[in-house]
Amino acid sequence: MAKILVTGGTGFIGSHTVVELHNAGYGVVIVDDFSNSNPKILTQLEKITGKKPEFYELDLCDEAKVNDFVKKHTDISGVIHFAAFKAVGESVQQPLKYYRNNFYSLINLITAFNQKVNLVFSSSCTVYGQPDVLPVTEDAPVKKAESPYGNTKQIAEEILQETCAVTPSLKVTSLRYFNPVGAHHTALIGELPIGVPQNLVPFITQSAIGKRGPITVYGDDYSTPDGSAIRDYIHVVDLAKAHVAAIQRLESEKASSNYEVFNLGTGKGSSVLEIIHAFEKSTGEKLNYTIGARREGDIEQVWGNVEKSARDLGWKAELDIDEMMRSAWNWEKYLKDNPF
Ligand SMILES: NC(=O)c1ccc[n+]([C@@H]2O[C@H](COP(=O)([O-])OP(=O)(O)OC[C@H]3O[C@@H](n4cnc5c(N)ncnc54)[C@H](O)[C@@H]3O)[C@@H](O)[C@H]2O)c1
Repeated sequence: MAKILVTGGTGFIGSHTVVELHNAGYGVVIVDDFSNSNPKILTQLEKITGKKPEFYELDLCDEAKVNDFVKKHTDISGVIHFAAFKAVGESVQQPLKYYRNNFYSLINLITAFNQKVNLVFSSSCTVYGQPDVLPVTEDAPVKKAESPYGNTKQIAEEILQETCAVTPSLKVTSLRYFNPVGAHHTALIGELPIGVPQNLVPFITQSAIGKRGPITVYGDDYSTPDGSAIRDYIHVVDLAKAHVAAIQRLESEKASSNYEVFNLGTGKGSSVLEIIHAFEKSTGEKLNYTIGARREGDIEQVWGNVEKSARDLGWKAELDIDEMMRSAWNWEKYLKDNPF
């Protein structure tokens, strides 16, 4: 059976996507270098799917090894490329680390496949910056990136678009994620932030379990109904399912061109304060939070127009904020009892 290569498949979104590919009947090969993940995720994946994952430890920046890997795995019919560094703050401190990893890995992969492959690329709604019109559509202008990390996503999209324009054998779908949160309903896999989480939901769960102090709400003076910043939170399992839909669209040659872009969100925005209250309501845990100053680089509000994904991918997010909060909390409790 043809297989899907999942790079970064032991990471947060990659691991959930491995499960959904398995559920949809795909064979899967994972590569990861564990630079931001834990080998124990492989055991967890086996517990969920009942199948030992096919896994290769590999740094995708190593061109010779990537070539060798692809040469040996002629049964790969598509690639979902998650592997990248993603910490915005660190990217400001160490831009070259981010440009090197996020570009070399992408270019090495495409080159190893001789520019002849179906590829799904992890992009981000950060490419929109603060959009002029909400909900933001895929054809909204790309704004100047706020960080080297954001810039790697913008430039990677350009690399892919320009290469596709002259290479019909390369078929690419860029998926612009909004804010992935939550965890698998089994609580066996979820997000594993290294250090102090920069994102709201992992900070909330770590604060609730006592690993961190009070939550800081960065700004309550934005032009939003309750003054706190608004994002489009999407359950990671819904996000994972969208990757299966993207692979199926590429395989069935339904794409309108060999380079397509889709927003992956719920189409609804939630404020920081709404998320805090939703967590309290759905878990029964009381949170301790204070209002702080706005955080540099944060935008006021963004949520996605997801009509194109619904129409062309036949995909829609189904899980609500309560489920996002409950699953994230169950994962945090699992980690407390079963430290990685
Ligand atoms: N999580 C988010 O909020 C978010 C939002 C938008 C886009 N994205 C993008 O989605 C993708 C997946 O994100 P995630 O949250 O699952 O991140 P993650 O860090 O949990 O997963 C990425 C995985 O890639 C691996 N990796 C990194 N560099 C590698 C290399 N050179 N060779 C092999 N493996 C390598 C890491 O070890 C990790 O397991 C990334 O490209 C990220 O930029 C994430």
